[in-house]
Amino acid sequence: MPAMKVLFATSELAPWVKTGGLADVAAALPDAVHAKGIDARILVPSYPALKAAFPNAPMVAAIPPLTGHLYGAAVREARTTSGVTLYLLECDAFFDRPGNPYLGPDGHDWPDNGLRFGLLSRVAALLSDDYSPLDWRPDILHCSDWQTGLGPVFLRHRPYSVGKVARTVITIHNLAFQGLFGRDLKPALGLPAHAWSMHGVEYHGYLSFLKGGLQYADAITTVSPTYAREIQTEAEGMGMDALLRERAGVLTGILNGIDMEAWNPATDGHIAAHFDAKQLTSKATNTRALREEMGLAADTTRPLIGIVSRLTHQKGLDLVPSLLYWLATEAYPLPAQFAVLGSGDKGLEAAYRELEARFPGQFAVRFRFDEGLAHRIEAGSDMFLMPSRFEPCGLNQMYSLRYGTPPIVRATGGLADTVVDASHGKHGTGFVFQHATVEALHETFHRAIAAWHDHKGFAALQRRAMSADFSWDAPANAYIDLYRRLLS
Ligand code: ADP
Ligand code: GLC
Repeated sequence: MPAMKVLFATSELAPWVKTGGLADVAAALPDAVHAKGIDARILVPSYPALKAAFPNAPMVAAIPPLTGHLYGAAVREARTTSGVTLYLLECDAFFDRPGNPYLGPDGHDWPDNGLRFGLLSRVAALLSDDYSPLDWRPDILHCSDWQTGLGPVFLRHRPYSVGKVARTVITIHNLAFQGLFGRDLKPALGLPAHAWSMHGVEYHGYLSFLKGGLQYADAITTVSPTYAREIQTEAEGMGMDALLRERAGVLTGILNGIDMEAWNPATDGHIAAHFDAKQLTSKATNTRALREEMGLAADTTRPLIGIVSRLTHQKGLDLVPSLLYWLATEAYPLPAQFAVLGSGDKGLEAAYRELEARFPGQFAVRFRFDEGLAHRIEAGSDMFLMPSRFEPCGLNQMYSLRYGTPPIVRATGGLADTVVDASHGKHGTGFVFQHATVEALHETFHRAIAAWHDHKGFAALQRRAMSADFSWDAPANAYIDLYRRLLS
């Protein structure tokens, strides 16, 4: 039997272009299903980092201008070290721009994002039907988030062909980003008139890429079972809940895996000392090194709390300044130290800079994207803080568990599915609170600090955390089952 063929369309791909977990998953899932015999290929824009990584990638298809606004493009073929084929969508006018894939140097969205990701979506659809310029045709087109959300829409509304087309899947990594644009984009993208309705891409007078995908994909997945339930509620459905309830029959939550090789404390090349569940004492070497790297006081009488995150409202990180000022009224120095790596919201960055000035040696922050430091924070911290307001899956809490760094998390989305509160005795792996309030965080924080001071009990908690299996094996099987069901 020939291998099942799956085309993944994505706007980010680790390690080359990454703003968050989407990039990790966009690389890891194709790898994982490829390892199980699926012919998995990835369509991604040829950003500068990909051009530089694959300078000699041969051109395998030319795409003529599809409308007066969508420039002509080329598809180049390359291969990752794990053997997955990459289709690099080359359109320099759209994608040969430095830095973040979505934002210009002024920190604002590129004004032509609708055209840029409209082209990506259209080409994803084109490569998935019988008019594809490639001699390889996928059985499944798997899109992710709004940037490729119009893929299933274009595939459903082909003006020109009647043959066999791929079945489609869209994965929601984050419902907060819906790809909303003015209706004038519709003709610019060549969307057929009948796609414009409340049962199509129209969303309160705007064109929504994500809504289009959710409406027309054969299957919808999201990245944790709890988030799959949450997004069907009015409170957390971000305006898409009614549609998601309507499509509940084709919606499933499949928990992401993590890269168990890259995030392995026994072999991690970024950290000061290797350790595992049997040899936990070496973790202290990483803690010492992290304090030094971040300019924190060499004080082993209190735990070191790590944060690695986009600094946004989603992540609940505006609760941290309130927590710290509250803690400071109770004790000084603070009962814990903090090592923070992140960037994003300028107001939050300012608040964190102020914390660093106010609590020297106790609170340290770095505003940049730094893979190595992210690993050193996971390895060196005693606990990891993730007070997210919503969290489709979250990867960092899984990295934390693997590094014996019990996470302190809010019970939402993937956090609720991966962390068990310490009060559950021999099942506990971290600290979980229910409400996104500083009161709830404060209470759980004190509970966590007290648990840390009980060294024997804490070591047992760490070992349990480290025994959890978050490999891609089970999720890859779940996706393959889904693809099979769609094709049967
Ligand atoms: P999200 O995708 O919502 O940002 P995830 O937890 O799924 O959240 O994934 C975030 C990913 O980005 C993780 O791999 C995390 O380590 C990484 N990350 C976030 N901020 C930084 C940063 N400043 N430096 C390095 N890695 C970061
Ligand atoms: C999104 C979500 C995050 C998830 C990631 C990968 O960025 O915010 O929770 O882990 O996608 O699926």
